[in-house]
Amino acid sequence: MLELRDISFTIQKDGHEVPLIQEVTFKVSEGHFMAIVGPSGCGKTTLLKLIAGINVESGGQVCWAGRDLSTEGDLEPAEIGYVPQFSVAYENLTVEENIEAAIRLRARTENREAFHDLTDRTLSSVGLGELRERPVRVLSGGQKRRLSLALELVSSPVLLLCDEVTSGLDPKSEEEIVRLLHDLSREGGRVVIIVTHSLAHLELYDSVLVMHQGRAVYHGPPRALEHYFGVKEVEDVYPQLTKRPGEDWQRSWEKHREEYNHALLAAGKAVRQHKVGESGAPGTSAETPGFLAQFFALFFRRCRIFVRDSGNITLHAAILLGFPFLVVIFAMKGVGVTRELSDILPQTMADFERDRQVMSDNLGLGRLVSGLVMFQVILLTLMGSNNSSREIAGERHIYEKEKLGGVRASSYLASKLAFLGILVTVQSTWMALFVQGICGIPTVTFWPQLALLLLVNAAMTAVCLGISALAKTADQASLLGVYLVGFQLPLSGALLALPPVLDWLTRPFISAYWSWSGIMRSLEKPFYNAVDQVTDTAFMPASAGYVVLGMHVVLGLFLAYIGVKKPRWE
Ligand SMILES: Nc1ncnc2c1ncn2[C@@H]1O[C@H](COP(=O)(O)OP(=O)(O)O)[C@@H](O)[C@H]1O
Ligand SMILES: [Mg+2]
Repeated sequence: MLELRDISFTIQKDGHEVPLIQEVTFKVSEGHFMAIVGPSGCGKTTLLKLIAGINVESGGQVCWAGRDLSTEGDLEPAEIGYVPQFSVAYENLTVEENIEAAIRLRARTENREAFHDLTDRTLSSVGLGELRERPVRVLSGGQKRRLSLALELVSSPVLLLCDEVTSGLDPKSEEEIVRLLHDLSREGGRVVIIVTHSLAHLELYDSVLVMHQGRAVYHGPPRALEHYFGVKEVEDVYPQLTKRPGEDWQRSWEKHREEYNHALLAAGKAVRQHKVGESGAPGTSAETPGFLAQFFALFFRRCRIFVRDSGNITLHAAILLGFPFLVVIFAMKGVGVTRELSDILPQTMADFERDRQVMSDNLGLGRLVSGLVMFQVILLTLMGSNNSSREIAGERHIYEKEKLGGVRASSYLASKLAFLGILVTVQSTWMALFVQGICGIPTVTFWPQLALLLLVNAAMTAVCLGISALAKTADQASLLGVYLVGFQLPLSGALLALPPVLDWLTRPFISAYWSWSGIMRSLEKPFYNAVDQVTDTAFMPASAGYVVLGMHVVLGLFLAYIGVKKPRWE
């Protein structure tokens, strides 16, 4: 039995308390199919989120099977299915791939056979068996709603909550979905609650809860609606509601509530006697899969989404191959000359003249080497920001949904690290090898150069991942990522020395500086001297670069962890 007792929900707005839901009370028994209806903005979604545990009530209790969910612990994630208003499937994956990922993330299956069996049964229960190979983006609105439902059914929830799953559909699809939900409520004592503003097909529901201005003003059988509200047609209920304030309606309802309740619960008992009390599927358990199982499911799904998106692949390939090439073009003039630095001291006038020339060449070379490395570094920070700025913010709604369904924040973040780790390694290694192969940056050994290029990309990727996890929207995250890259060059001190105060304030945060400066310090002595002569900024050794960039990575991951832990609906 699901029971709400005097549930209220208040939010703070401009220092005032705004009540969105006020003292809603109702009871439904197992195997019940209920609609929450009411005009737009009356609080239906807010109430559904309270039942789902997404919103936390300001007062009152939500009880399941006599257990107070706020004090005695929530339902297990697998026990609740919540189908939000928006689509929560990945558009570029097929119907089957989406379902399989949902099973790996949310249900434990004993073996491959049980896994395939569950996939088949889930697909056929929502009538998508024939469409399993189709990418989600080509599905119709109604088919997408079925898929959203199927994603919830993989864990055989005992409580299924659906928000506006029929809105925007044609009347035929709407009826099909309502019938489907009705049938789902007849399986294993499942309670199915749907929010809708539509008053069509009400006869299919066991009960209807009418909301008005955040209050429950009726909860009873659909056929008694006209009688209770004193109207001829059910369509007249909403206009009738507006004639009195919500408070009045609620007070009237409280007088009748008990008698309607008795009738509903008695009807519920009759329904239940026809059913077998079977719940869950053979070979599966309601326990959420472990960290590693979720990690692999998320990681492989991420890789698959990556390879399916041809536009994105082209962009990544263009950046991967184009950026190192861009660096090399700037070195064309200097290719081959980078080894001709002279340390000979002047003896004669002719020597002196020659040496002046050498000096000027040296300074030119210093500028070239410093510029080349800085260019490499800046392009890698750009790649880093492109790697991760949208990574979490762009799929936040899906992630929130999956988190509610039992996906661990730690598995999710780990899957991002593994995926981005591959991108960073490939990008930085290729950049370092290509530029080194063609220009021959004169470092004593190649390793500090490679490590610092890897780290600067990793630092920017991690920080932008943190931003992505904390940002409100993907656009906001991307914009911040672009700003962050934009500040790297001017604040690195490679072009112009900064005023000392600014230098000390900003330096710790400028990844590009630490990477560039560390590589400069790893140059062969004469080259280092040449670079030193053309630069006013002090260099820090590679080891300091490892430490600071390592700290940037840690900071980025810390922000990302805070961000993914924090609930963020809408
Ligand atoms: N987080 C929120 N902050 C401010 N107002 C909110 C919030 N959530 C909902 N509301 C307001 O509460 C009312 C009810 O919203 P909602 O439950 O979404 O309505 P319905 O689903 O019935 O259309 C609306 O007026 C909406 O603007
Ligand atoms: Mg709504």
